[in-house]
Amino acid sequence: MPRPAVLVTRRIPSSVIARLEERCTVDVWDGRDAIPGDALKARLAGKQALVCLLTDRVDGPVLDAGPGLRIVANIAVGFDNIDLAAARARGVVVTNTPDVLTEATADFTWGLILAVTRRIPEGERLLRRGEWTGWALDFMLGSDLRGKQLGIVGLGRIGRAVAARAGAFGMRAAFTTLDADAPEAGSADRSWARMNLDALLSSSDVVSFHVPLTPATRHLIDRRAILRMKRRAYLVNTSRGPVIDEAALAWALREGLLAGAALDVYEQEPHVHPDLLGLENVVLAPHLGSATVETRTAMADLAARNVLAVLSGSPPLTPVVA
Ligand code: GLV
Repeated sequence: MPRPAVLVTRRIPSSVIARLEERCTVDVWDGRDAIPGDALKARLAGKQALVCLLTDRVDGPVLDAGPGLRIVANIAVGFDNIDLAAARARGVVVTNTPDVLTEATADFTWGLILAVTRRIPEGERLLRRGEWTGWALDFMLGSDLRGKQLGIVGLGRIGRAVAARAGAFGMRAAFTTLDADAPEAGSADRSWARMNLDALLSSSDVVSFHVPLTPATRHLIDRRAILRMKRRAYLVNTSRGPVIDEAALAWALREGLLAGAALDVYEQEPHVHPDLLGLENVVLAPHLGSATVETRTAMADLAARNVLAVLSGSPPLTPVVA
């Protein structure tokens, strides 16, 4: 029997390629940037599996370019880049990489919370410009976290891991699930207050987003929602950019309605709204939430193990259930 063929849309660790090569023929796109749509389609011909990234749009026409495809394994926990209905209609399994990135992303979220509330990148920019004139009692004051409320929007794995770290900084955690019947709320720590979105926005000093991007969460935070937020609160987003209306956020930061924001994700990556680029009170990270050697390797490895499972006729390890 011929070995199944796998397309991998970006360079991944050699240990993971080796795992795939034990049983498959592997074709790796090794361009520096994301594989262009036409090349993706051309290289899918004759493939049984696709290992892709969140920068690859996988829709009906792409899937049709690989009629032999049995699995699309996304190296990301988010899967808004994949048209699930189109995959389901073609009998293609879709998998993501939950769990393995939870702790790294929660740590990074706290890095952003500290960076924005203590003005660390702003201070570094000033120092590098040669504008630091020395220690002063009232210089570049930030905001304490102790005794304040952290509002978590979305209590999935990452939201829970972020909330679990709140006590270490003396914060109390509150959460909203957006969905009154969300089963995950049952596994919340009893010390975390459950609220609806409005109550959470109006009472939290830091609001952190951990929801998937869906039609219901696109621009969940627009001007109206920002106006409901506590004055001088901080907004942190490590989920997906379109959850926040960037133009509205820039307006609120400029007007001083919010004290600051820290973003790891953007509406049109890698483009960042120009109004945000000009503001000092926003920390901008280039989508690094899960970016550690260990975590990215574990993500790629989980995608490969999903491919091998499905190609050998076993159930996927981490299927996306929409
Ligand atoms: C990163 O954003 C991911 O979804 O894994």
